[in-house]
Order: sequence, then structure tokens, then C-alpha cells
Amino acid sequence: MIFKSSLRVRLSTFVAPRRVRRGVAARSEVGLFYSTSTGNTECAAEWVQDKFGDGITAPMDMCETKVEDLKKYDALIVGAPTWNTGSDEQRTGTAWDDTFDEVKNLDLSGKKVAVFGCGDSAAYSEYFCDGIEELHSAFKAAGATMVGEVSTDGYDYAESKSVVDGKFLGLPLDEDNEGDQTEARVEAWVEQLKAAGFA
Ligand SMILES: Cc1cc2nc3c(=O)[nH]c(=O)nc-3n(C[C@H](O)[C@H](O)[C@H](O)COP(=O)(O)O)c2cc1C
Repeated sequence: MIFKSSLRVRLSTFVAPRRVRRGVAARSEVGLFYSTSTGNTECAAEWVQDKFGDGITAPMDMCETKVEDLKKYDALIVGAPTWNTGSDEQRTGTAWDDTFDEVKNLDLSGKKVAVFGCGDSAAYSEYFCDGIEELHSAFKAAGATMVGEVSTDGYDYAESKSVVDGKFLGLPLDEDNEGDQTEARVEAWVEQLKAAGFA
């Protein structure tokens, strides 16, 4: 009996501090979420994690994420491909499409959100990374502060719904034709996000 009760004391002193530490870490990290059909956006998310360094979560697949969990983070980086070519709605062709209504109804005011996307600027030149704009508008509707716009310089495409006032609303990546540029593009973008207050 004496042994059991002292063991209980030792376990409780060990477990309690870990719970506290975990709770604090979750709030201060940037949440990194993505969806994918063939893996390119997952690879891009891994580049984002790599270039960000400390202070960001591992990439989390929206297939395995509850929309409510997006609220746990002070800042979010979210990524999606474009598959539903030419469509006004549900452009990503992935799990994000089923979440947009719910995302719009979250209260994300005071949180910074940045979007990246994967597309094909050659084969789908008139719809390049159209999904970025749909993600952007859902998070904007939730009250988030949207950051991470990117110049169109260096991209070769015909049209994109994700270009507003001459800039992409997030970071476009083209793993199909320009995969060799992904690392540098992500690196520059992450620096931009950090300068905008992601840390
Ligand atoms: C049927 C089909 C439709 C596509 N539609 C578009 C499109 O409208 N715009 C675009 O930029 N890329 C389009 N793509 C290219 C994909 O978005 C690109 O390959 C992307 O990297 C896929 O990302 P994922 O592997 O994360 O799913 C399309 C590809 C296929 C096969």
C-alpha cells in the first residue's frame, strides 16, 4: 500500500508539467495544414516546415483534421492544389472543398493566415493555381488577417483567379514544370512571412 501511494504521487508530479508545456506550445506554434491528391502539396508543405525551422507544426493533412482545430493556432499556413479546372467553386478537388463553409463560419479574427498552392502553369495556364484564391477568400471571410501575397514576376502563365491587383494572393508552386524553383520560392516566402509577424 505504501509503495502504491508513493508511486501515484511520483506519476502525478511527472505527468502534470508535461500537460502544461504541451498546451502552451500548441498556441504559440504556427499551424501548417495542406491537402493533396498526388503528393505535390504535401512535399511543398514539408519545404515550408523545413525553411520555417522552429515554431511551426509538422504538416497536417486536412483529411485528418477537424476544422475547429484550425482555431488552436495564432497563425496558420494553409496549402492546396488546383484540380477542378475552370470551376468557380471547389477548385482544389481535395478535402478543403468540403470545409469552406465551415471555415467561413470560424472566428479567426486577430490571426494571421498565409496560403500556398500547387498547380501546372503550362498544361493549365489559364487556371494557374486558381485554388489559392478560394482558400484565401474562405479564411478572409473568417476574419483572418491575410498575408503572403507574391509578385507575378518569374511566373509564366496566361490567367489565374488567384491574381488580384497584379499579385498572387499566396505562394504559387509548380512541381510539374518548375520543381527546381520550389525550394528558393518557399525560402523567400517564409522570410516574407516572418517579416510580416509569423514567428
Ligand atoms: C485533371 C487535372 C486537372 C488540373 N487542373 C489544374 C488547374 O486547373 N490549374 C492548375 O494550376 N493546375 C491544375 N492541375 C495540376 C495540379 O494542380 C498539379 O499537378 C499539382 O501539383 C497537384 O498537386 P497535388 O499532388 O498536391 O494534388 C491539374 C492536373 C490534372 C491532372
